[in-house]
Amino acid sequence: MQSSSKAGGNGDAKHLVCVTGAGSFIGSWVVKELLLRGYRVRGTARDPAHRKNAHLLALDGAGERLTLCRADVMHGDSLRAAFWGCRGVFHIASPVSNDPELVPEAVEGTRNVINAAADAGVRRVVFTSSYGAVHMDPNRSPDTVVTTTTTANKPAYNLYCCAKMMAEVAATEEAARRGLELAVVVPATTIGPALQQTLNFSSDHVARFLMGAKPAYQNAVTAYVDVRDVARAHALVYEHPEARSHRYLCVSAVLHRAHFVRLLKDLFPQYPVTAKCEDDGKPRVREYRFSNQKLGDLGLEFTDMRTSLYETVICLQHRGHVPVIVPRHRACL
Ligand SMILES: NC(=O)c1ccc[n+]([C@@H]2O[C@H](COP(=O)([O-])OP(=O)(O)OC[C@H]3O[C@@H](n4cnc5c(N)ncnc54)[C@H](OP(=O)(O)O)[C@@H]3O)[C@@H](O)[C@H]2O)c1
Repeated sequence: MQSSSKAGGNGDAKHLVCVTGAGSFIGSWVVKELLLRGYRVRGTARDPAHRKNAHLLALDGAGERLTLCRADVMHGDSLRAAFWGCRGVFHIASPVSNDPELVPEAVEGTRNVINAAADAGVRRVVFTSSYGAVHMDPNRSPDTVVTTTTTANKPAYNLYCCAKMMAEVAATEEAARRGLELAVVVPATTIGPALQQTLNFSSDHVARFLMGAKPAYQNAVTAYVDVRDVARAHALVYEHPEARSHRYLCVSAVLHRAHFVRLLKDLFPQYPVTAKCEDDGKPRVREYRFSNQKLGDLGLEFTDMRTSLYETVICLQHRGHVPVIVPRHRACL
């Protein structure tokens, strides 16, 4: 260990960490990144033997340094058992859903994770929040730069974002009460190639635009980031001694839907990408400004969106989530 306060690092690279929701889109890449960095990893899933988690066991280093165990965020005992002997916990598991019945799994589940981590003697927790907990404020001027000090205002119209905001508050309160180091990663809509076979919500967002699921796109903007950058961000904030009590905005670009569909159409002209904007009678929504400087200062270089989108679609094709339509001319980056 290079420094007594450092949670990870070269001199102490083999200690044990736990990743909740290891088989998820983001969780799988976090597990891969941690294995790459030499950690021993315990991944949790509600059904670790399910074939949807099989990809984890094929990751480089998994044979020697990855174990999977059963845990549900609503069951404290299962969490305590999963965290026992771990110095760090990456809390990624959460329903990605607007179902009101699942809000407690996001909020109380997070409270349970922090308490179980404290009980098990964990030193640092990295919590995966969402930019829904940051950017949703109908009154914010488009000239305001969204940073990690920005907090959503009235995100109640989107229950998922509301739940993530409440979960982040719960994590912060509970970690302070239990004397646990907490660092928060705040990813935007996350795209990029998936390691898992199943289709998650944000990858489906790309698939739906590619396949022209709606006749017109909304006059709206969305922030994006590549899943590999999100995974590196988790590892960086875990390893950086000063990262405790900080939030890290993990955003690569904010794009108007018009820009997003143009990029898709340009890369994959053979698909029926929607080219029409819903006419809501309002002026075009402006992209808001943001700062990802804090992660840049930790050494993170963000993947450009064109590369990320290209690799998302290629992966969707390989996994059979969208049909392969052969282009007349091959797409190039
Ligand atoms: N994807 C994005 O665009 C995005 C952006 C910002 C933040 N995030 C956050 O990143 C995290 C992962 O998102 P994702 O898109 O990668 O998710 P995902 O692929 O949809 O997977 C969700 C994960 O949550 C786990 N989970 C749900 N309820 C659980 C419970 N009661 N107990 C234990 N595990 C439970 C699931 O485990 P099982 O396999 O056991 O069902 C699964 O591993 C979430 O916290 C999400 O809010 C995602």
